[in-house]
Formats: sequence, C-alpha cells, structure tokens
Amino acid sequence: MSTCCYKDSSKPVEKRIKDLIGRMTVEEKLGQLNQIYRGSDNPLPAEFAIQVRNGEIGSFIWGYAQPELRNQMQRVAVEESRLGIPLIFGMDIIHGARTIFPIAPAMAGAFEPELLERAQAVAAKEARAQGLEWVFAPMCDLARDARWGRVAETCGEDPYLSALCNAAQVRGFQGDDPGSGEHLAACLKHYVGYSSPRGGRDYSDTEITEWTLRNAHLPSFHAAINAGALTVMSSFNAIGGIPAVSNRHTLTEILREEWKFKGFVVSDWNAVIEAVSWGYAKDHAEAARLAICAGNDMDMLSTSYYRTLAKQIEDGTVPMAVVDEAVRRVLRVKFQVGLFDRPYVDAAAYESAILRPEYLALARESVVKSTVLLKNEGVLPLSRKIRKIALIGPFGDDQTEMLGCWQGNGEPKDVVTLASGLKDKFGSKISLAVVKGCSVSTEPRMKMLQDGSTVIDDSVPMDNAEIMLKEAESAAKNADVVIMAVGEPKGITGEGGSRATLTLTGRQQELFDAVARCGRPVVTIVFSGRTLTLTEVFDKSAAVLFAWQPGIQAGNGLADLISGDAAPSARLSMSVPYEVGQVPLYYNHYVTGRRSGGVYRDGVPTAARFWFGYGLTYTKFEYSDIKIVSGKKGKPAEAVAAISNKGRRKGVETVQLYIRQLACNEGARPMQELRGFKRVALKPGESAEVRFPLTSEVLGYVDRKGKTRVDKGDFHVWIAHHARSGEPLVYSHK
Ligand code: GLC
Repeated sequence: MSTCCYKDSSKPVEKRIKDLIGRMTVEEKLGQLNQIYRGSDNPLPAEFAIQVRNGEIGSFIWGYAQPELRNQMQRVAVEESRLGIPLIFGMDIIHGARTIFPIAPAMAGAFEPELLERAQAVAAKEARAQGLEWVFAPMCDLARDARWGRVAETCGEDPYLSALCNAAQVRGFQGDDPGSGEHLAACLKHYVGYSSPRGGRDYSDTEITEWTLRNAHLPSFHAAINAGALTVMSSFNAIGGIPAVSNRHTLTEILREEWKFKGFVVSDWNAVIEAVSWGYAKDHAEAARLAICAGNDMDMLSTSYYRTLAKQIEDGTVPMAVVDEAVRRVLRVKFQVGLFDRPYVDAAAYESAILRPEYLALARESVVKSTVLLKNEGVLPLSRKIRKIALIGPFGDDQTEMLGCWQGNGEPKDVVTLASGLKDKFGSKISLAVVKGCSVSTEPRMKMLQDGSTVIDDSVPMDNAEIMLKEAESAAKNADVVIMAVGEPKGITGEGGSRATLTLTGRQQELFDAVARCGRPVVTIVFSGRTLTLTEVFDKSAAVLFAWQPGIQAGNGLADLISGDAAPSARLSMSVPYEVGQVPLYYNHYVTGRRSGGVYRDGVPTAARFWFGYGLTYTKFEYSDIKIVSGKKGKPAEAVAAISNKGRRKGVETVQLYIRQLACNEGARPMQELRGFKRVALKPGESAEVRFPLTSEVLGYVDRKGKTRVDKGDFHVWIAHHARSGEPLVYSHK
C-alpha cells in the first residue's frame, strides 16, 4: 500500500496538494489559514497543543529561538493531528536573526544590493537553525516621511534602489531552493502604500493615486515578486478608504492577474478585523469575508477566518473555491520550504549555527559600507598624532541601542560598542575617556508595562544631569579631539515610532552645545532609525558620520572608518531635511507648475540639507567629459562620463544616473529619477570611464493599467555625485 500521495515526496507538489485538499474537512482547511502568536518564553501553553492536534492552527509567529519547543509543537501537528500537516513558523527577521546587521536604509545606502543579499543569506541560515521557515521581510515600503518610524525598515526613498535591494534580499533569504535547510520563505511587506500615512502617524490612512502607486510604491514589490518571493503581507493602511487587507485591486487584480504571483498573502497583525474599526466592515464575519474574497489568504492573529468562515461557506456567502485556493497557496509554500519532508530542525546544532566569525566579518564590512560621511573638515581619518580622545554621549558605550528597532534574537552582549571598538583599534596609543554625558531621553527611568502604559522605574537611579554635563565638559577640555555619539533611542523608532519632531532626544542637544563650546574638534556620529534635523550639530561639528542603527559590529566598523583603516563610501538612501516642517521630503518629487521658491516665509530652505545619494569619501573625485553617445546598429544611446580620483587616498565613488522625462501625457514624471549607479574604486590619480545605456528600463514608466511604457521625446540625463548635483544633458529619445 503506497503512502498517501501527499506524503510521497516522489510525487509532484501540485499532485500532493490536490490529494491533500481532497482529504481535508472545512475546519482543517480554515485551520491552515489561521496564524497564532507565541512570543512568551514560558513552556508551551497547553491549549495551543489541543488546537494544533485538532488542526485549528496552520502557523505560529514564533518569537524566540527555542528549537526544542518548536519541534515539540511541530510533533503535535505532524504525529498527532489527523492529516499530519506541518506548521510553518515565522518571525520578524528584518536586519539579522542573531548576527544583527545595520538596518535596511543603512544597507541600501551602500548602493551594493549584493551586500544585502549576503547579509540576508546569513540571517536565513541562523533563522532556519532556530526552526523558522518564514521571515516577515523584506519591507518593500517606500520611505517618504521621516516622522514615520518605520522608515527604519525600508530601503529608502527611491523606487529603483529599493527595488534592487529588496529583490536582493529575497535572493538572500530564499536562495535557489527555499527548502534547502539554509534558506526560507521571504515575505514582502507591507503591501501596499503603508509608508505615506497622514501626518507621518503610523497606521493612519493614505491617499495614493494609481499613478503614484504604480511608479513609486509598487516597483519594489514587483521586483521582489519577480525575484521569486513566496509570500506577501498586506498592510494596516487604507488607500482611499479601502483597507489593504480587503483591497481586491491590489491583492488580486495587480498581484495575481497582472504579476501572476503564486504564493500566499498573510494579513498584518489582527488587520482582518481592523476593517471593522476602519468602518469598512460591520463585524468580524463580514471583515473575514471581504478579506479572503479580496485575496488575503492567511489571517494573522484575529482568528476571524477560523471562527466565521465555515458558516459563511455553508450559507454560500463565501465560495468554497475561494477558501480552497487560499489553502492551496499556503500548502504550496509549506511544500516549497521543505516542511512536509523535513518538518523538524536539529536543535542541537543551533548554538554552532550562529555568530560565526564570517558572519561577524560581514556585519563589520556592512557597518563600513553603510555609514555615511556627511561632513569632514579634514579631521577624519584621525591623525596619528592624536593622543587623547573623549568619547561623549549616550550612544558611545550602549550595547542595546546598537541593535536597532527589530533586533530579532540579537543580544546586547554580542554588541561591540563604539567605545570597545576604539579601545581595540587604538589600544594604549590613545587615552580614551568615555563619558555618557546624558541619557537618551528626558526621563530614562520610564519603563513600559505589558498594557503599553509607562511608569517610572524607581529602581533606576536618577540621572544627575548637571554632574554628567560637567564630566563631559571636563573630558572634552582634556582631549585632542572629541567624538560625540548622539541620536534617537531605538525604542522610539520602528513600528509605532512616529515623531512630530526630528531632533536629538533628552538633553543631548544641550550636551552637544556644551561640548562644542569647549573648542576642541568634534567628530559627531549620529545613531538613528531615520534622518534627523540636526542643523546645529552639522554646523558645529568638524566631521559627521551618519551610522543609522549599525548592529552588533558597530564599534569595529566605525573604528575602521575613524582610524582610516577603511574609507567611507556610503550614500544617503533618504534625504535629510533642515526642519520637520519640510517633511514629507524626498528628491524624486514633481517639478510642479510653479516653483515654490527656495525658502519658506520663515526662512527655512525648501531644499534638503543633504539630498538622496549624498555622501563623502576620504578622497576627491572629479567628473568630466559627461556626454550622450548615440547608439549604433540598433543599440541604445549611452550616457558616458570620466571619473578621476584627484585626492591622496584610494576611494570608491558611487556614480549615479538620473533621468527626467520632460513631457509625459500619461502623467507628469518626477524632476529626477535614479535609474542606474556604479561603484567605481580608484587609486589616487586613476581615472575610469562609466557608461550607462539609455534603455527602455532606464527611460520607462508604468501606466495606470500596469503596462511599462517608454515615450519618444526629450529627457534630462545626469551622471552625478548625488541627486541635485551637476547639470543635465538633453537626450531626445526616438
Ligand atoms: C507587526 C508589523 C509587521 C510584523 C507583524 C508580525 O504589527 O506591522 O511588520 O511583521 O506584526 O510581528
């Protein structure tokens, strides 16, 4: 008697799925669409085992690296439930599982998508080793508003760079075989338009036209789908009053019918029933019906699918075929990640699978390549004559803060702080004074309770702010150079991290001003999940490094840059405003019918302090002989330039190609669009030629029906150091 077809690994997956679905009851089918959260690290709650045994649960969000407990729960599903369908375990592994890398906007700023691919391949190995087959990443949202804390999870404000980086993350997570045991299923989130919330407030509504949806928000998702992503997560926002979890246009017409996506869509946390609070559904049953019929396959946490769909199938309001298709998609991914044939993980192998030396080396390389040099008046790299450094600020020696907003299973004890990195780098050659100077928040003793409220934790000693400030001034006066480590605390970044200001928190600005008055050269390192308005800091510092949230190798990577053992090459993946009033601020906006002028009436510039693509190196690059060369024999024309290293140190220049279509009747196009870049490494005195073919992909756009189009007509073309640098050439596309 052959085993059941669905259990026979020699059979094609689609046959196994068909056989299995044919055996399932309605309740078992709905169980596959039901995802539960297990985040506490207590032993498994007994009721979960009962539900799993009854086939009521298909997936867990599994919030801890406990492979033994994960196997225990999987055993209940595979060996004790009627059909033995394995559970799929997922978790937010955004910028590292145990080896924590810099956050995505930092990594995107390396302008090297392969770096993200390598990093997520490490994350996949560590995550798989803990018993996860599914990660809720990459975040493909477009960052347009720094008040929105989740810009910290995006690949920045540009659709082209974001698309390349997110496709690379999918390749890193999934590899060639997501079932290989070292790879797993990616999840593109948050689909779609979540990143333009009204007022920068997380979870609020978004008004996005089809034109902007197609050309700003969707390209990153489309590229990642084309890279083979197995799952998508629908988002909390509503577009034009339709919650994304129930938006048939985006979930079915675009994702399924246009893009032919075959994987499954999971809702975001409880989002199915939030359609009721949106005022879109009257109750949980209607919310469940609207969501599954729009194309949202799995229900994260609300259990409304499991609780209400059986009756709606029975009374005909929800077609069985819709549920069967959702179940088919979920089972397909479970087969693709190897769960039916290898449902268990080798728990004993976990400890040796994490924090490997080559992973730490990659994390260190990532810090070097993603930290942006914004200013340098000749003080970096530090002179060998420096003997006394004062490292001042609450981010100089704080292991937790370096982990960033989604720290996965990252542990503070794994983190090399800036203080440690400098000590390791300079040893006894330098006397290093490390002074906190102030706390990161005005009330460092606040702690959040389970219910989300905050209280003062009296067990934490009161900061004596005056004494701390005096200590900092004294250390500064006694130093040859000061390194300031300031920024925003990780706790106010990421999900729910909306801010109405973009300044330093607590008494950091007061600390910075006091130290700057001491008259020593100040190198400021900014640790943040978003771009901040730090005009005073930028003006008064001799050098500024923007480190974002750099992960567990923060100190070593930054010490490499500060010492000159490595050179900065990163660029900004988000523009930096002067004031929060300018936000949303991004380089690729429309020209508009009238120029609004260079300044607001209250004197604030309308331009960015630093535009997208900006970043300095330790040398000086020159662009020359920029021209358009017409194509021959049907080949496209090319934009060409010569890049020369005119400085005294080797360096990497990220040369950028921008275009603008001057007249597009489908809709005005942005004043600039990044459509190519090349990292050029040159020694002092060396030159190189860069060529960018002006192909359809470079010049094209997506129309309102989803078709990619290229119009004949005039374009502006830049080969530039960053957005808003250099003058455009005119190219007439025939
Ligand atoms: C959260 C986030 C989403 C995350 C999910 C599971 O609310 O919006 O990004 O993947 O829930 O933790």
